[in-house]
Amino acid sequence: MNAPADLVVMNIGELITCEPSLGEGSLGVITGGALAAAEGRVVWVGPAARLRREVVTRAGAREIDAGGRIGLPGFVDSHTHLIFAGSREHEYALRARGAGYQEIAAGGGGILSTVKATRAAGMDELVAQALPRLATLLAHGTTTAEVKSGYGLTTADELKMLEAARRLGETQPVEIHANFCGAHEVPPEYQGRTDAYVDLVVDEMLPAVAENKLARYVDVFCEDGVFSVAQARRVLEAGARHGLRAKFHADEFVTLGGAELAAEVRALSADHLLKARPEGVARMKAAGVTAALLPGTAFFLGLPYAPARAFLETGVRVALASDFNPGSSMGPNLQLVMTMAVSQMKLSPEEALLGVTLHGAHAMGLEAEIGSLRPGKQCDLLLADVPNWRWLSYYYGVNHVTRVLKRGRLVSER
Ligand code: NIG
Ligand code: FE
Repeated sequence: MNAPADLVVMNIGELITCEPSLGEGSLGVITGGALAAAEGRVVWVGPAARLRREVVTRAGAREIDAGGRIGLPGFVDSHTHLIFAGSREHEYALRARGAGYQEIAAGGGGILSTVKATRAAGMDELVAQALPRLATLLAHGTTTAEVKSGYGLTTADELKMLEAARRLGETQPVEIHANFCGAHEVPPEYQGRTDAYVDLVVDEMLPAVAENKLARYVDVFCEDGVFSVAQARRVLEAGARHGLRAKFHADEFVTLGGAELAAEVRALSADHLLKARPEGVARMKAAGVTAALLPGTAFFLGLPYAPARAFLETGVRVALASDFNPGSSMGPNLQLVMTMAVSQMKLSPEEALLGVTLHGAHAMGLEAEIGSLRPGKQCDLLLADVPNWRWLSYYYGVNHVTRVLKRGRLVSER
């Protein structure tokens, strides 16, 4: 028997559980639904008509009337670079005039210009700059986010970024899990000495990150001109020795074999994959690695999208994330990401919604806790003002989310 409910959400036009066994179709839709929670966890979902019969509520339990709005799991954004100082709107303009992302990076712009600004900022300043961005994420329905370091590139500056992530997670409603991305770029002082920088990441940064328990994951930008597959393997294997799960940038601009490496090291996710070989993705599937696709990046950079349908044919699990960052994807809205996935990568609306919920949770190794509205999981619930769930991606560029609950608590409302 469950604990008596302390929260009841009534009158949900469609409740999208993302659990096929709990409702209709692959999204487990309950038409005319209701939900009950206790101590921040879902204890019951079902047709509203059965609620009074099946759920015992505690005296003084909170009741929310959804007013016919749809209910769905909070979004899980499994790939963000939320913490950074400064901005790079000038590069955006340069690209519109024909400059490439890697060309700009080679000219000292790109990641390194954000590194300069981030090194100059203190921890409090990084938190202050990230706060309004995080509030925007939350208002658009993101209740859990992965947040990377990678704009510090010294031990002290990487730790500073991760401490900023920790501070945000402790003080803000969005649940944050940090990804140590010290191998995001080779800093200027190591130019031409990439292996020596990898030594620093492996011998100094990773132990410090692990000792201070500042990250759950380890990332590396495995890319032509940045870190090779062999260097990425070193970073990821060292991370594993410190208990950090691999979640990394793979085959974004050039086919290097990042997908194959992800399978080899049994990463939680391989991300981007614009240029991944479907054979590599098939190996990911066999190794249980989630493919995290970031259509906002292709959109923002004006590049061809990842061949998502070819990936799906391998049976791999596809997550969708924002890649929110100042250079290649300055967009926090996962509803818009769903639209891009449907229109440009030909995901079905169901696949797109699973991508930002349950599959996002898999990409973070958190599928037992979040990503669907199954009894026992956290009560991370969105109410959205649309006639039916398909409008989430169909009516695009608008924020449909009106209320956000994190662990049963109302944390955003408009
Ligand atoms: O995911 N690829 C590397 N990292 C980011 C870009 C970060 C930046 O440009 O600041 C990405 O695209
Ligand atoms: Fe990224």
